Amino acid sequence: MPPAHPLDAVTHPDPYSYYATLARSRPLYRDAALDMWVAAHPETIAAVMRHPAARVRPAGEPVPRGLWPGQAGELFGRFVRMNDSAAHARLKALLVAFIQEQEQEQEQEQRLDPARPLPPAPRDAAGIDRYLYDAPVHAQASFLGLDHTLHADCAAEINRFLFALPANADAERIAAGHAAAARLMARLQANLTGPCSKPALRRLNEDAAADGITPDLVTANLAGLLFQSCEAGAALLGNALVMAGRRGVSEPLTRDVALALIDDVVRHDPPLHNTRRFMTESADIGGQRIAAGQTVLLVLAAASQIEPDAGWTFGAQRHACPGTALARRHAADALLHLLRAGTDPAALAKRFRYRPLPNARVPQFDFQEDSNS
Ligand code: HEM
Repeated sequence: MPPAHPLDAVTHPDPYSYYATLARSRPLYRDAALDMWVAAHPETIAAVMRHPAARVRPAGEPVPRGLWPGQAGELFGRFVRMNDSAAHARLKALLVAFIQEQEQEQEQEQRLDPARPLPPAPRDAAGIDRYLYDAPVHAQASFLGLDHTLHADCAAEINRFLFALPANADAERIAAGHAAAARLMARLQANLTGPCSKPALRRLNEDAAADGITPDLVTANLAGLLFQSCEAGAALLGNALVMAGRRGVSEPLTRDVALALIDDVVRHDPPLHNTRRFMTESADIGGQRIAAGQTVLLVLAAASQIEPDAGWTFGAQRHACPGTALARRHAADALLHLLRAGTDPAALAKRFRYRPLPNARVPQFDFQEDSNS
């Protein structure tokens, strides 16, 4: 059975011919059942992304309702990913410059010490499921320059924060999300600011201050880099394991081969399948009128079927992902680490399902047949 609709496709075993047909035959349409517009072709997706009325959050809900008021909501509301406006553009430019400079510095450090800081390799399927979500945060925490003793705590806080986001999160999860956000901010403030920080971070803080951006907003967005890396990184690594298993890939594996496999995952089984925009005013796009207040689902995985090498899974235009190169390298390193520690991807690829998520395609290897979470 093909997927019933583009949200169903995210967890479908093989949605890609459905996505290709969607992109070609229904580039932009209103889906009455989903109560959303759907853009599925590179041109219509780009046109929506470019439109000034298309925002990353609904006008009346800058932060998910359940998170407000509280520290998790405050943190979420500060992420560049969740903001439009001129302030977004300035902060985004600083973050992009920071990531580039830090990448150059790290490259030199790694030549001296190639050991990558990753969590210990897991022994069973449940451990792999946790590793998928932890490893990208460990790698990103290391990238920010945090001491390795802090990586596991960062991963735990980001995961608690992440679990508080869904609309159906209960009071306990939300309280844990607020506490995690507060601890994370305190940890980053204590360890990433001040005279001891690395040159790229010092420059980020100085440039932000010169631009009138508060230190709190910078710190929140460093937490944002940890957050952005987590679920998408889990999806990239998980789908890489599945692809490695199906292709019979095993050790010994070079880093270049691992990177090439990650690139194939980005092309053929991407980690993020869609994102959304919320229209603040009515807009004429692709010959159709989208009314103010409507949501548009941008089906990135469908656009990939038309332009497989464009990296659609990382978005485009104003909110394009600044972490593409890092995500690719971190996933390749984590894959190598797992395979070298004896993980058997062929066994994993034989039995898994996808987590019931609306946009990330994350395989889950440890589950009961009849459970749904
Ligand atoms: C497999 C891994 C990743 C995928 C698939 C991914 C995908 C995306 C996508 C699709 C967007 C744009 C969302 C939209 O326009 O609605 C985005 C934004 C963003 N990503 Fe990534 N990402 C990944 C990893 C990372 C990493 C490792 C970082 C950290 C350096 C990062 C940082 C960001 C930030 C800060 C934004 C917001 C940019 C903005 O709003 O201007 N991402 N990412």
